[in-house]
Amino acid sequence: MNTISVKRPSFSGVARIKTIVIAGGAGFVGSHLCERFINQGHRVVCVDNLQTGSRDNIASLLAHHDFRFVLHDVTAPLALDGPVHEIYNMACTASPPRYQLDPIHTFRTCTDGAMNLLNLARDKGAKVLLSSTSEVYGDPEISLQHEGYRGNVNTCGPRACYDEGKRAAETLFWEYGAHLGVQTRIARIFNTYGPRMHPDDGRVVSNFIVQALRGQDLTIYGNGSQTRSFCYIDDLVDGLIALMASDEKMPVNLGNPDEFTMLELARKVLDKTGASVGLINQPLPQDDPRQRRPDISRAAELLGWAPKVALDQGLDLTIRWFWSVLNAQSVEARVS
Ligand SMILES: NC(=O)c1ccc[n+]([C@@H]2O[C@H](COP(=O)([O-])OP(=O)(O)OC[C@H]3O[C@@H](n4cnc5c(N)ncnc54)[C@H](O)[C@@H]3O)[C@@H](O)[C@H]2O)c1
Repeated sequence: MNTISVKRPSFSGVARIKTIVIAGGAGFVGSHLCERFINQGHRVVCVDNLQTGSRDNIASLLAHHDFRFVLHDVTAPLALDGPVHEIYNMACTASPPRYQLDPIHTFRTCTDGAMNLLNLARDKGAKVLLSSTSEVYGDPEISLQHEGYRGNVNTCGPRACYDEGKRAAETLFWEYGAHLGVQTRIARIFNTYGPRMHPDDGRVVSNFIVQALRGQDLTIYGNGSQTRSFCYIDDLVDGLIALMASDEKMPVNLGNPDEFTMLELARKVLDKTGASVGLINQPLPQDDPRQRRPDISRAAELLGWAPKVALDQGLDLTIRWFWSVLNAQSVEARVS
């Protein structure tokens, strides 16, 4: 259902064919990385426990001769045959309602998972990238969060398993880089959206779009004045690949600095979908950050990277994708 278009590899543009491991490759971000590398002619090993990812996300890749799927939970050590050149650690459920279902497993995914992938990188002589998060800044006291800001995180709250897990993972990456010579990279990813987000995963962009398309009122937590900055998936994939190709071992923010309140986002989604539904207010979840906006000057300077897709354009593409998925689901439901 979630189709991936596999283009004929253009070998002229590939300096060297690499074997690239994508842990969490059946998820939202990971599946876009898998697709990008297969289209570039690389070999991809997708490692996933399918906790929030799905075979649908990689359906068109499964039969490809350069693509291999390994069902595996990264909290256990991972052994792979043959050379590995790069490892992207995207394995961790990113949606708060979902990662809070089993917080200890979430924490172990961040920490044990990081260690197991770092050990694989050390054994194979591979470069390894951590998908860290803006959540390491917690509920920030400064607007425009730069990498030097140390954050405002609650260690004993419902988001701590994820936020503190990612902070610990950053430390592991830094130590393996500093003391064991592993080529590590740390991406601090800010809210990213686009096709292949799970319709029911509870993140705000997918929530609003799915509610609007289903003719339901949009849920606003708190008064809707809290802000987020939204990066379109293709921009994030470009940034991750540029970071892996760089020599930078310290964390780098990747996100779109255009900041919107939740009310502004809701109005955009209502305008674009034409849904005649209202807004309903729910209490703000505990430790929900009031603001989020990346300072991406390091990414610009070190990687020559900046996002290109404006929210209006990205929302149009994402709404179109959700519309086709929800339509297919309702046809399936009518047929069965
Ligand atoms: N999407 C965002 O806005 C965002 C923001 C900040 C950070 N990130 C990070 O990027 C990465 C990917 O996020 P996403 O949005 O694609 O989330 P996602 O939930 O769609 O994908 C995560 C993938 O990891 C897999 N996974 C989870 N735990 C695992 C485990 N123990 N072993 C093996 N596989 C496991 C899931 O099945 C899923 O396929 C995550 O590490 C997340 O923390 C994402």
